[in-house]
Amino acid sequence: MPEMGIFRLLIWVFMVGYVGCMIDGIGVNWGTMAIRRLPPDTVVQLLKDNGFQKVKLFDADQSTMSSLAGSGIEVMVAIPNNQLEAMNDYETAKRWVDRNITLYNFDGGVNIKYVAVGNEPFLKSYNGSFLNTTFPALQNIQNALNEAGAGDTIKATVPLNADVYDSPKDNSVPSAGRFRSDINDLMVQIVQFLNNSNAPFTVNIYPYLSLYGNTGFPIDYAFFDGTSKPVDDNGVMYDNVFDANFDTLVSSLRAAGFPDLPILIGEVGWPTDGDMFATSLYAQRFYNGLLKRLAQNKGSPLRPGHLVVYLFGLIDEDAKSIAPGNFERHWGIFSYDGQPKFPMDLSGQGQSSLPIGANNVKYLPAQWCVLNTNAKDMSTLPDNINYACTYSDCTSLGYGSTCNKLDAQGNASYAFNMYYQVQGHKDESCDFGGLAVVTTQNASQDPCKFPIQIEVSSSGVLILSMRAVMVALLFFIFFSL
Ligand SMILES: *[C@@H]1O[C@H](CO)[C@@H](O)[C@H](O)[C@H]1NC(C)=O
Ligand SMILES: *[C@@H]1O[C@H](CO)[C@@H](O)[C@H](O)[C@H]1NC(C)=O
Ligand SMILES: *[C@@H]1O[C@H](CO)[C@@H](O)[C@H](O)[C@H]1NC(C)=O
Ligand SMILES: *[C@@H]1O[C@H](CO)[C@@H](O)[C@H](O)[C@H]1NC(C)=O
Ligand SMILES: *[C@@H]1O[C@H](CO)[C@@H](O)[C@H](O)[C@H]1NC(C)=O
Ligand SMILES: *[C@@H]1O[C@H](CO)[C@@H](O)[C@H](O)[C@H]1NC(C)=O
Repeated sequence: MPEMGIFRLLIWVFMVGYVGCMIDGIGVNWGTMAIRRLPPDTVVQLLKDNGFQKVKLFDADQSTMSSLAGSGIEVMVAIPNNQLEAMNDYETAKRWVDRNITLYNFDGGVNIKYVAVGNEPFLKSYNGSFLNTTFPALQNIQNALNEAGAGDTIKATVPLNADVYDSPKDNSVPSAGRFRSDINDLMVQIVQFLNNSNAPFTVNIYPYLSLYGNTGFPIDYAFFDGTSKPVDDNGVMYDNVFDANFDTLVSSLRAAGFPDLPILIGEVGWPTDGDMFATSLYAQRFYNGLLKRLAQNKGSPLRPGHLVVYLFGLIDEDAKSIAPGNFERHWGIFSYDGQPKFPMDLSGQGQSSLPIGANNVKYLPAQWCVLNTNAKDMSTLPDNINYACTYSDCTSLGYGSTCNKLDAQGNASYAFNMYYQVQGHKDESCDFGGLAVVTTQNASQDPCKFPIQIEVSSSGVLILSMRAVMVALLFFIFFSL
């Protein structure tokens, strides 16, 4: 029948168009711990240009929220760990929901879908600081959402690190997965509550950290292109640590009595600098494998099908703590200025194309601050380098990083330049007691980039211009009546 042929053709065209577009519902984490930040509107355009349909935030900052209004992008807002205790008071939680959710939750406002209550609050390195406050905060926020009439569409969840579960050492297969024994009772309560409120479990999974933290970890097992040593779990074969980790969680949920609780991957990604395994090449390999699998809706052996994933992260954050390692400041798919670092096909088709960079980025003038090789007295050099690096980001100088091959003079220049850039080229920021000079010659020494920072408008300027718009609007309304 000819009708049937046309119908089939239409389906085919539809599917090709669909597949060639974007992985269904892929999201990304938008962290803002950078010394100089791109304007939120520029970042939202970057999200749109690259087809991200979901974004996960780490707070509920007003300028971020305003820039997301009307974008249609689905948003997870967050309550930082240091506010969890305050949210144990129901009135405070209600106020938080009023000001940070209800205010934006209207047609044409911000498309809020989740509230992240805390960020990896049970991480072992927090020494139990948030064990008592997380669950009450979760309950209060969901109850406040319900009371505000938003509970059906907006769910509270707790992004947890994969260290809330493990598989006992002597039987290290995913099916042996259980919640950590010291927090098992608490985890079961939380999971019960999530299940009751139809909220998902949120977990952050980092194959990179498996590799970084364990000498002898088989490197191929961190990626998705096969390994010579797969893990045999009673006949179920695992050839990558991402699946194994995810299914350890699935098994933990099963053991707790919630085999079907939906799971979101709150963070997954690979850093590009700061360690010998944190390179653009490895990141490209990781994302290439991950994105292809997501596009194929492969899921894991225990949970085949669609996975909801937020990549980590959108842009480098040079103000993050480096307690976990120098790589912490290099998780961005995009560098500090919103420019792509390596080829990555967000449609999951494995094409070698660069993501689309941020538009209309305003840079400081092409000036670098370098060591003054004519300086007489170099005795204060170490102190000055130390000072420069304390107030800027020198993590690219470390072992295994892009600038580790610089000589001693190069190191000094790099440090001085990083400080000069984050200071916005202030004259006094390139002095260091006569040890530094400004130059217009590109100081980069391949592969080490000496960046030029972006211009940032002071928030005062921003508020003034917003006022001007408001006044203009009022005049317009007044005179058009
Ligand atoms: C809204 O969220 C921001 C960022 O998390 C927080 O600083 C602020 O206190 C919240 N507002 C209220 C009224 O709780
Ligand atoms: C946790 O305890 C260790 C060792 O006692 C300490 O070094 C670290 O600073 C503590 N961390 C926090 C977040 O309290
Ligand atoms: C949590 O509560 C227990 C029992 O009340 C208490 O012993 C512990 O000190 C509390 N922990 C923190 C970090 O407040
Ligand atoms: C989880 O929630 C579903 C309904 O959404 C319910 O049928 C099921 O009994 C719940 N599981 C447990 C263990 O409470
Ligand atoms: C440059 O600095 C890095 C990081 O501090 C250090 O590892 C390296 O040894 C330094 N190089 C020279 C030649 O001093
Ligand atoms: C400086 O040189 C590096 C490569 O060595 C290049 O990537 C960068 O764009 C240059 N910077 C400017 C401002 O021209």
